[in-house]
Amino acid sequence: MKVLGFVGSPREGSNTGIMVDEVLKGASDEGAETKVFNLNKMNIKPCQACQHCKGNAGECATDDDMQDIYKEIKEADAFVLGAPIYMWQMSAQAKLFIDRLYAFFKTGFEEKYGKKDVALVFTQGNPEDMFAGYIDSTKDMFNFLGYNVKGVLSAKGNQAPGDVKNKETILKKAREIGKDLAN
Ligand SMILES: Cc1cc2nc3c(=O)[nH]c(=O)nc-3n(C[C@H](O)[C@H](O)[C@H](O)COP(=O)(O)O)c2cc1C
Repeated sequence: MKVLGFVGSPREGSNTGIMVDEVLKGASDEGAETKVFNLNKMNIKPCQACQHCKGNAGECATDDDMQDIYKEIKEADAFVLGAPIYMWQMSAQAKLFIDRLYAFFKTGFEEKYGKKDVALVFTQGNPEDMFAGYIDSTKDMFNFLGYNVKGVLSAKGNQAPGDVKNKETILKKAREIGKDLAN
């Protein structure tokens, strides 16, 4: 059992990173092997819409760090994607990653590598539940793409890096999602 974490925040000590770590902790407590990727530190180009993947069994023609991620996802059972809310949506780092998953879409990925479980964790500055529609539609998109979304978590009212550290209820939920991913 292998569970990956993808962090879509550029900040050191980010709330996103803390939440992704908690999910992975929950998974490793259940015996899963875990690995975390900081998307901001990786060279990931936007999808070039060349459609190479569609005629080549899901192989992406863009030679960048996403190639390592493709390999890791194929070998993993599940992953958690974490993103801060930027301008009512996910950060660009997280969106680039998702766009590049287009390579796996309708190219026989599931048949060859199995259905992967996914968790989504978000953090936002606003204390209200105002991005629920967006978060729901992101979940629907992953399910539509052929993943099995097992957990979605959104932490509100976090401004400075590390703000989420005091929010034990959220962190506990993150660990529970991780446990679920590992089972
Ligand atoms: C460019 C930018 C845009 C943001 N847009 C929003 C927003 O639309 N709504 C919101 O609630 N918070 C917004 N925030 C605040 C972040 O979502 C919040 O601080 C989050 O906890 C940061 O996560 P991190 O610590 O993982 O980087 C924005 C922050 C930045 C830097």
